[in-house]
Amino acid sequence: MHDFYEIAETVSIEEILQKYPIAADFFENMNLGELDQKKPLADALEMADQDWIAELGTDVDDVLEQFADFMVALSSPEDDVFRIGSITIVGGTYKDGSPEDVELTVRTGEVLSIVGPTGSGKSRLLGDIECIAQGDTPTKRKIMIDGVFPDDEMRFELEGQLVAQLSQNMNFVMDLSVREFLLMHSKSRFCEDPEDIVARCFECANELAGEKFTMDVKVTQLSGGQSRALMIADTAFMSSSPIVLIDEIENAGIDRKQAIKILTKNDKIVFMSTHDPLLALSADKRIVIRNGGISKIIETTEEERLSQAVIEKLDETLMNIRNMLRHGELITPDNLQNTGGIDEITL
Ligand SMILES: Nc1ncnc2c1ncn2[C@@H]1O[C@H](COP(=O)(O)OP(=O)(O)OP(=O)(O)O)[C@@H](O)[C@H]1O
Ligand SMILES: [Mg+2]
Repeated sequence: MHDFYEIAETVSIEEILQKYPIAADFFENMNLGELDQKKPLADALEMADQDWIAELGTDVDDVLEQFADFMVALSSPEDDVFRIGSITIVGGTYKDGSPEDVELTVRTGEVLSIVGPTGSGKSRLLGDIECIAQGDTPTKRKIMIDGVFPDDEMRFELEGQLVAQLSQNMNFVMDLSVREFLLMHSKSRFCEDPEDIVARCFECANELAGEKFTMDVKVTQLSGGQSRALMIADTAFMSSSPIVLIDEIENAGIDRKQAIKILTKNDKIVFMSTHDPLLALSADKRIVIRNGGISKIIETTEEERLSQAVIEKLDETLMNIRNMLRHGELITPDNLQNTGGIDEITL
């Protein structure tokens, strides 16, 4: 990570804005537009009218600190991509307090699915990974990064960098258009060619979404499935975090096989909670959760993969029925005959 304190002392504001366009938001929000752009931020602040700075309700040190915080929070430049080799889940307790006797190490490049009944604790496991739990969550689990338990300082440093999470609920707080949203993100991540990344991301999102949308539509107006598709594309193209957590992609009405393919193409560790057999079997391993704990870890065998073809056929049939429903057709036995694969099923 860059030392933004040093940058504030040595690089002119003009150059900072050129190199990190997102910094413009900082100067605008802090009402610092009047500073001498030719000087480094620290010098410009020292030379400015101190009464004016006081009127803004701040002081020089505070501005410098806020600048560094802002830049750290919004940056994950390509050359600073944060890499890890493995994470390890060390068991805590089941819901009834009995010990969860597991130690599972997952390496970069592996995809794991998480299965289990509703309410069993799948999202909780994702939550434990997200916050790098150290015995301080309801499950008492602990997470190791590259074989060590991170201390508080490391946990704090890792925050926001380690994990990209696609949660069950997506809430956009800002009323930006799709283009503005993607552009803001690509700039904040210091992508080399923001326009190009935005275009690719947009195309990918639209491939995943059932109903197409335009660049000018507001993100708050996207449907659940469309915003999911946008976040998946955004994570795939712009996120540099080494771990991706996906909580139930299947209900979003998007092309989920495609989504998983896009998300797993990079060298990442992927955990996805799912009730979908096709997604569960597409993982290298699956974690079975029962009563709050990891009760089994199953490696997907070649034999199981053979079943995938059959499940895919069934899935296609169901998908066709869903599409008939969506397009207002009647789901009669006669119509079902045309959905493919149904002839093997007795009505
Ligand atoms: N080991 C545990 N000890 C105590 N509480 C737990 C444990 N595991 C999960 N819980 C709690 O159980 C509740 C349900 O868990 P969770 O939301 O993770 O279920 P889920 O499997 O994701 O369900 P769904 O399939 O409906 O999304 C949560 O409140 C969670 O904090
Ligand atoms: Mg859940």
